[in-house]
Amino acid sequence: MNDLAPSPLMNTYANLPVYLSHGEGVWLWDEGGRKYLDGLAGIAVNTLGHNHPRLVAAITDQAKRIIHSSNIYKVRYQEQLAAKLCALSGMDNVFFCNSGLEANEAALKIARKFGHDKGIEAPEIVVYDDAFHGRSLATLSATGNAKVQKGFAPLVPGFVRVPMNDLAALEAATAQRKNVVAVFIEAIQGEGGINAAQIEYLRALRALCDARGWLLMIDEVQCGMGRTGKWFAHQWAGIVPDVMPLAKGLASGVPVGAVVARGAAARVFGPGNHGTTFGGNPLAMRAALETLAVIEDDGLLQNAGKVGAHLAATLRSRLGGIAGFEEVRGRGLMLGVVLDRPCTPLALSALGYCDDYGLLINVTQERVVRLLPALVMNEDEALLLAEGVARLVTDFLLADAKP
Ligand SMILES: Cc1ncc(COP(=O)(O)O)c(C=O)c1O
Repeated sequence: MNDLAPSPLMNTYANLPVYLSHGEGVWLWDEGGRKYLDGLAGIAVNTLGHNHPRLVAAITDQAKRIIHSSNIYKVRYQEQLAAKLCALSGMDNVFFCNSGLEANEAALKIARKFGHDKGIEAPEIVVYDDAFHGRSLATLSATGNAKVQKGFAPLVPGFVRVPMNDLAALEAATAQRKNVVAVFIEAIQGEGGINAAQIEYLRALRALCDARGWLLMIDEVQCGMGRTGKWFAHQWAGIVPDVMPLAKGLASGVPVGAVVARGAAARVFGPGNHGTTFGGNPLAMRAALETLAVIEDDGLLQNAGKVGAHLAATLRSRLGGIAGFEEVRGRGLMLGVVLDRPCTPLALSALGYCDDYGLLINVTQERVVRLLPALVMNEDEALLLAEGVARLVTDFLLADAKP
């Protein structure tokens, strides 16, 4: 097609000019044969990297048997995957869907119905500055980003917004409110710029929710599935939420979402309260089960912790002292390189990093270089990524400093 012809695609993405065609581990190739080191894993999705033999075999085998059957019938692999997720999280049951926003939408519906069941007609949910929960009307209303919300008013009501890691602010914002039913938080904000909820804050939230009879709902869509070195990022605080939405890395690239629930939250939905056509289909379930099995068999939680620490340490040692570099933050393989100025062009210049290969990285909140590589990345690959990012950032800051 002529480049000047109008695109048949809706104008929703400012894509980078590259068509990726295939991959192997943490490496990808474009249609022209150029190679890229993947520091993004499809935004925390390709847990096992690309073309993982066990994942490909499981998907292929399942495709030959049955891809979709409908929730009109029982799906054996749903039961197996749900049992596994409950065992890993210490929670009670699961609803399967197809994406992060759908998992969050289900969580919000659980919170609202939990309130209605207690006689609260207009339930309110505490949400956070800089949060990102998705782009459906309810989840964009819960999101703390004016750009995401612009043009879509009237927003869904029933959210009370507070700053993260400030218990006094939460207590003040809710002191006069009788209708609060839940707190909804990302254990580590991803789109918001790799901002972690402090361990003590998460523990305090757990205690507060218990004391007030609120649900603690932790969005692990981006930070979950082993990325931080534990199955779920909130587990660093030793707490268990009441509701936990998952998606992204759960099936290593096959679309899937899940909302995991515990206690009263697990008993909120009855037949007819929620549903989906595609959710929990056998293909996605097999892909997720295999992803979890490989994470366990290959020690990928430990790998994420070890390789992530190496990546962060190398970035800090290469960038420390350079004017314009602020910090490296995050945990495991969920890292942000924070600059003091906007650096969005870095994602494009990274594609041309060197003659032999480019880098796939992302910039969020305008000045945070976000790294979310596959959990299979090894230390040598992490070193290449760290050196590449450090050089790109250094060159960018030096060029930017020139009059
Ligand atoms: C924390 C979090 N929640 C929800 C979502 C939405 O997920 P999806 O794009 O699959 O709808 C995202 C996506 O980036 C996310 O990071």
